[in-house]
Amino acid sequence: METRQGLPDLAPETVAGAVAATYAAGARAVQPELCCPVEYDPKWLAAIPAEVLERDYGCGDPSRWLRPGETVLDLGSGGGKICFIASQVVGPEGRVIGVDMTPDMLELARRARPEVARRVGWDNVEFRRGRIEDLALDLEKLEEWLIAHPVRDLAGYSALLAETERLRREEPMVPDDSIDVVVSNCVLNLVAPGAKERLFAELHRVLRPGGRAVISDIVASQPVPAELQRDPELWSGCISGALEEGAFRRAFAAAGLDGLRVLARGEEPWRVVAGIEFRSLTVAAWKPPVPVEAASCCAPPTAGGGGGCCG
Ligand SMILES: C[S@@+](CC[C@H](N)C(=O)[O-])C[C@H]1O[C@@H](n2cnc3c(N)ncnc32)[C@H](O)[C@@H]1O
Repeated sequence: METRQGLPDLAPETVAGAVAATYAAGARAVQPELCCPVEYDPKWLAAIPAEVLERDYGCGDPSRWLRPGETVLDLGSGGGKICFIASQVVGPEGRVIGVDMTPDMLELARRARPEVARRVGWDNVEFRRGRIEDLALDLEKLEEWLIAHPVRDLAGYSALLAETERLRREEPMVPDDSIDVVVSNCVLNLVAPGAKERLFAELHRVLRPGGRAVISDIVASQPVPAELQRDPELWSGCISGALEEGAFRRAFAAAGLDGLRVLARGEEPWRVVAGIEFRSLTVAAWKPPVPVEAASCCAPPTAGGGGGCCG
């Protein structure tokens, strides 16, 4: 990935720790400086509790491009606002999964879930704890295992690594090819440079063939210089980790997600830091359908019309 060339690489754990601490505070109390104002369709907001709406840390609205019946995965779901909007758009035949690494955010979203379900009339949203760059690993399952098997020595460490691999393989939090639409609102920039390539690979892995990613994020008018990248605190403000706009667009194709379309682009920058403009961008990109020659009778429909013939 281009962000790794010639720039210091912040360790993913350092970045994740700083980001999780900021958003834990952002779950407990509203942090206006984390907010980039977004207008959502008011008809979806009535069902969502105020404490969720007040903690809007998004920068776009990927839910506008969802359809009834779809299975949606929201990366970095925060207080759950996009998931609760998506729940209404996809309807009772659809399904929504929110993934976030910050326990306080998950608690906020899970607290709101029954009330949203009551107001909407169906309950099709669930929230899971994990890293968006490692969507196979369910961190709540891993924590449960760790409590029962505390690591005290190298043998324990080895057992932990084995359990981590077993969970990814046998009980993946988000299985391969299982999602119609991956959405995300202002989160991809928060992932460390050393983990961004894996993040885009995970988008591709979890999407079904023909599925799409609809991503809102902050992008920069120039590559973010080393002195801004080196400050872990600036990551949480969606500045340090923002990719240069061209690099952001190319990262989708590099991961095998094709046909990128720009759905919305802030003409005015959200912020200007050190002469660099940071603005909101929403794009869609597609995982290619199964090639016609590889499609069997029971495969999903392909661009060429093959597959999908089992009644
Ligand atoms: C800017 S907020 C956006 C929240 C939500 N999408 C919204 O629109 O309000 C970022 C969220 O992503 C989560 N997050 C950041 N990096 C993450 C990662 N690597 N894996 C999982 N969650 C992450 C944070 O805990 C926080 O809840």
